[in-house]
Amino acid sequence: MDRSGWAVEAQGLVKVFGEHRAVDGVNLNVRAGTIYGVLGPNGAGKTTTIRMLATLLRPDGGSARIFGHDVTKESQIVRQLIGVTGQYASVDESLSAMENLIIFSRLLGLSRTESKRKAESLLEEFSLTEAAKRPLKNFSGGMRRRLDLAASLIAQPPLIFLDEPTTGLDPRTRVQMWETIQKLVKTGSTVLLTTQYLDEADQLADRIAVIDHGRVVAEGTVDELKASVGTSSLHLSVLQPLQMEAARHMVEQVLKVPTSAAYDSGKITAPMANTDQVTDLLIALREAGIPLAEMSVQKPTLDEVFLSITGSGTPNPPASQPQNQTKKAEVANL
Ligand SMILES: Nc1ncnc2c1ncn2[C@@H]1O[C@H](COP(=O)(O)OP(=O)(O)OP(=O)(O)O)[C@@H](O)[C@H]1O
Ligand SMILES: [Mg+2]
Repeated sequence: MDRSGWAVEAQGLVKVFGEHRAVDGVNLNVRAGTIYGVLGPNGAGKTTTIRMLATLLRPDGGSARIFGHDVTKESQIVRQLIGVTGQYASVDESLSAMENLIIFSRLLGLSRTESKRKAESLLEEFSLTEAAKRPLKNFSGGMRRRLDLAASLIAQPPLIFLDEPTTGLDPRTRVQMWETIQKLVKTGSTVLLTTQYLDEADQLADRIAVIDHGRVVAEGTVDELKASVGTSSLHLSVLQPLQMEAARHMVEQVLKVPTSAAYDSGKITAPMANTDQVTDLLIALREAGIPLAEMSVQKPTLDEVFLSITGSGTPNPPASQPQNQTKKAEVANL
């Protein structure tokens, strides 16, 4: 394999906290020059994985290379190749954004003039010019996040780790952040970002790994992942709670996918590749004498991605799956 083509190669990464295997054998390969998304719910192990790749945490098992350099044996070299947002969080609150950026530039060895020029261009890039002279303590969450990213870019590292770069940002700032990230990659950087939002991964990432309970449960391009989930999801509840199992069985039979059921609320959900199947299902339910209280078809949520990937049913897409049926997310480590 050509080492130069890979920004990240992680094999069987493990991190144990006490009894808890927070990261439990993660494999991750990121091509240089791409955006890679690590998707997963709270506590899945995303941050822990990033911290190991960024040499901030020592793995308890497995190995990882950044541009061919081992994160434990060559951590000094690795650190020169990466930027991590969040690591500059403890900047001086009483200093302005401009002053903070100049300090970082000076610390990285840039001259006074270069530092000033760099700070100015970054503030402009991140739409912070107007706020440049204000002290940091008056910055909003979104402004801080942008300044944070700006600070990590002073050295223009070839690989940038972004841990949930847009969580808590308003929609407009979020889109701005996405544009900045895309620009970074156009100018030669590689980005590995974590997110809890499927739409963010959808917008940005060339490839995605879905992490759950410290393991990669699916990996592929956005299209591959979506094809495995189906284009929408079905939500229904039965009128008579006793018929829930029967209804669930019927849904699995007609849609040929695994379902999930919440018995307290009486809700059944299932991924759906083809909305035409709704008609078949409604007819089948009526013929079986199972009246419904409620039914809707919605776009897939992150939950459905997980259900579809980790669900008990067959990982094969239903026979009637349209268009990209040849593409299928690889299901690993189940
Ligand atoms: N320093 C630590 N000591 C003990 N447990 C930890 C430590 N850091 C993380 N954990 C645990 O490891 C698991 C994975 O945490 P991690 O922060 O990697 O998840 P995450 O996917 O980033 O979640 P989130 O979406 O909430 O940021 C969690 O159960 C967390 O409680
Ligand atoms: Mg995290």
